[in-house]
Amino acid sequence: MKYLKIIGKNKISGEVIISGAKNAALPLIACTILAKNEISIGNLPDVVDINTFLKLIDKLGGTFQKNEGRVTINPSTINKTTATYDIVKTMRASILVLGPILARFGYCEVSLPGGCAIGQRPVDLHLKALEAMGAKIVINHGYIEASAPDGLKGAKIVFDKVTVGGTENTIMAAALAKGETTIINAAKEPEIVQLCEVLANSGVKIEGIGSSKLIIQGSNKELLEIKDFDVIPDRIEAGTYMCAAAITNEKLKISKVIPLHLESIISKLEEMNFQVLQDEDSVTILPTDEIKPVNIVTTEYPGFPTDMQAQFMALATQANGVSTIDERLFENRFMHVSELLRLGADIHVNGNTATINGKANTLKGSDVMATDLRASSALVLAALVAQGETNIHRIYHLDRGYEDLEGKLTKIGAEVKRFTE
Ligand code: UD1
Repeated sequence: MKYLKIIGKNKISGEVIISGAKNAALPLIACTILAKNEISIGNLPDVVDINTFLKLIDKLGGTFQKNEGRVTINPSTINKTTATYDIVKTMRASILVLGPILARFGYCEVSLPGGCAIGQRPVDLHLKALEAMGAKIVINHGYIEASAPDGLKGAKIVFDKVTVGGTENTIMAAALAKGETTIINAAKEPEIVQLCEVLANSGVKIEGIGSSKLIIQGSNKELLEIKDFDVIPDRIEAGTYMCAAAITNEKLKISKVIPLHLESIISKLEEMNFQVLQDEDSVTILPTDEIKPVNIVTTEYPGFPTDMQAQFMALATQANGVSTIDERLFENRFMHVSELLRLGADIHVNGNTATINGKANTLKGSDVMATDLRASSALVLAALVAQGETNIHRIYHLDRGYEDLEGKLTKIGAEVKRFTE
C-alpha cells in the first residue's frame, strides 16, 4: 500500500491549475449510455473513480479511448445490463448507470451499493423515482433488479430529500421516457446543471435548469445524439487548494475555475478574514494578519458543501478561537477528527457538531490514516502546517478524486513524496 510523506511548514506560492470535476464527469459518462453516437469528452480528470467508471462502460459492452485529458466513448455497442459487485463495491457512483440502462434497455441490474465510511447512504429515493416512472424493482441476491419492458413513462416526482445522485438518475431516465417528467425538490449543484445542459444541447427539452423544479420531455426510447463537451472545473478540488493557501497563510492563485461555483467557500474564507481576489476564471487567496474562527453548516448547493467540511476543519485548527462545524448531510462524516487529534488538534464532537479550539502553530507531524476522500485531503492540509513529518496512510482514497496531488503540491513549494509501505 502507498503512503504520503509530507514535511510541514514549507512556504507555498504560485498557481494551481484545477482539473475537471470528478462528480460532474461521472454522471456525464453515464449519460453517454443514452446516445447512439460517439462522444468526445474533454477536461476529464485523471483519477481512479473516472477510470473505474470507464471500466464499467467497457463491461457493459461500450468502448472508449483515452487521449491526454479526453475520452471518446462509443456507447452504440452497449449490450449488457448489469453493474456487477466487483465494480460497485469500489465505487458507489456506479448506481448512476441504473437510470440510463433501464431507460434504454427496459432492464437493469446493479449490485446494491453498501454502506460506506461516511454513513449508510441509501438509494431508496433513486428507486422510488424510477418506480414512479413505471419501473418494477426488486432486490434479489444483493442486486437491484429493475424492469420496465414497455419503457419508462414520464411522471411527477417529488423528492423527500434533495439528492444529487437521485436527481441525476431521474434526469437521465426521463430523457428517454415517454412523455413529460417533472422533478420537484431537484438538486441544483453545478454538476446537475452541466448534465442538463449537455442533454439540452443534444435536443432534450428541459425547463428550469439550475432550479429545484425540472421539467423534461422524454424521447420515447429514441437514442440521443449527444454533442462533444468539456467537463466543468472541480469546485471541491479548487476549494481544497484555497484551503491550502489559507492554512499556510500564503498567497496562492487557483486557476481554471468558475468563481460563481465557489461562492459559499469564498464567503467562509472571507469570514475567516482572508481576502479573496476574483477574476473571470481564477481566484487568489491573500494572507491575513489573523485567521478568525468560523461557524459552518453543511447544506445543499448553493450552501456550504459537505465535501469541503473536513478541509475547513483542518483550517479552523489554525484560527484564533473557537469554530463550529455542523454536518447536516451525512452521519458519521467526522472520521477525520480522530486523525486530526493525532496531529495535536483540539476538537470535540457532539452528535453532528464539531467544535474546534483553534490556535496557530500547534500541530505536530505524526502517522495518520485516510478514511475517505475528503477526510484525506484534510489530513494533507493539516500536514502542510504541522511541525515535522506526517505520514498519511491509505492514500488510495485521495487517488479516487485528486488528480496529480503530489505534482500540484510540489509545484507550489510543498514537500510531498509517495512511498510504498
Ligand atoms: C453526491 C456526491 C458527494 C457529495 C454528495 C452531497 C457524487 C459522485 N457524489 O453524493 O461527493 O458529498 O452528493 O453533496 O456526485 N439519500 C437518501 N436516499 C437516497 C439518496 C440519498 O436518503 O436515495 C440521502 C443521503 O444519505 C444523504 C443525502 O440524501 O444524507 C444526500 O445524498 P446525495 O445528494 O444523494 O449524495 P450522493 O449523490 O450519493
